[in-house]
Amino acid sequence: MPAPRPHPALPERTREALEFLALYHAETGLSGLKARQAEVYRTGGVTLSAAELTHGARVAWRNSTRCVGRLPWMTLEVRDLRHVTAPEEVFTHLLAHLREGFNGGRILPTMSVFGPGVRVHNDQLVRYAGYRQPDGSVVGDPQNVALTDHLRRLGWAGGPGTAFDVLPLAIEGQERVTLFDLPADAVQEVPITHPTCAEIGRLGLRWHALPVISNMTLEVAGQSFPCAPFNGWYLQTEIAARNLADQDRYDALPAVAAALGLETGSRRSLWQDRALLELNVAVLHSFDRAGVRIADHHGVTTQFVHFEDQERRAGREVRGRWSWLIPPMSPATTPVWHRAYEDTEERPNFTVQTPAWREARPGVCPFHS
Ligand code: ARG
Repeated sequence: MPAPRPHPALPERTREALEFLALYHAETGLSGLKARQAEVYRTGGVTLSAAELTHGARVAWRNSTRCVGRLPWMTLEVRDLRHVTAPEEVFTHLLAHLREGFNGGRILPTMSVFGPGVRVHNDQLVRYAGYRQPDGSVVGDPQNVALTDHLRRLGWAGGPGTAFDVLPLAIEGQERVTLFDLPADAVQEVPITHPTCAEIGRLGLRWHALPVISNMTLEVAGQSFPCAPFNGWYLQTEIAARNLADQDRYDALPAVAAALGLETGSRRSLWQDRALLELNVAVLHSFDRAGVRIADHHGVTTQFVHFEDQERRAGREVRGRWSWLIPPMSPATTPVWHRAYEDTEERPNFTVQTPAWREARPGVCPFHS
């Protein structure tokens, strides 16, 4: 039986703490809820145990309306690093996270939760620089121009200037921001080749193996953890139908079409769609060949339907943001296309942070006026 809802007049933080403890004890079947509740009423909040934090992080994933890969939410590994606040130490633990999460290609969903005052300015641990050129064009990933400029202002000398320069990490501790270069062996990348079209392999396209989101705050039990980077594994459409294909990202479809020998004079030949399809084939082929785990849009959406069934059996309703759940190619071939979801948010969850370069925080970063 669900515990009674806490009184609405309680402060938000207290109410969320009580709600989370009730959820935790109901879902795990563990006893001792009364004692934990007493602590909240006494102190107004709660200090989570490692087991509670882990469950909270897993439920935050389960509640992520924009994520189509939620079926394995219970497998999330949580590294409890709440005692770590010094940038050098944070960096060392992030390197370990990259290694453990990659796990030799058999990627493990992993989260590292750091202590108060810590923040990573990069939106993912691995990002490619975007260098704005005098003529307005961009070398690298146009999405990361503002991040690249920010890192330059923090003192980064810049990279070799390729289309895939890995950016350093800006790690903010309690009183300063420090830059750290990621060593080459910490960043696993996959060169993109095609099973039958060798020309595509000569385009020099590549992508990194591990998406580690580092700009979302974990909100659990009335507490916020602004530094809680987490990774899953990629879905090929993220790379092949967006990052490499979008006109305002790597815009690779014209080059892929040329590699395929397609006639690009008339849009009604659907050359863009053909190039898009073959680029998706290439990314799946390349990750498979490299032994790096990656999902495809048919498999992951079928899994999502299993997730919905599983949640229903557990007496929970799955919420979702349909426009994020459907894949950006052939969406109507997947079961999610034909379904509807309630798009509202529940806690525990993740919230997106304002980028550090758009926030004026005097005292922390000398480069903000
Ligand atoms: N779409 C983002 C990217 O292309 C990654 C978001 C998280 N994706 C994931 N499969 N966990 O880098």
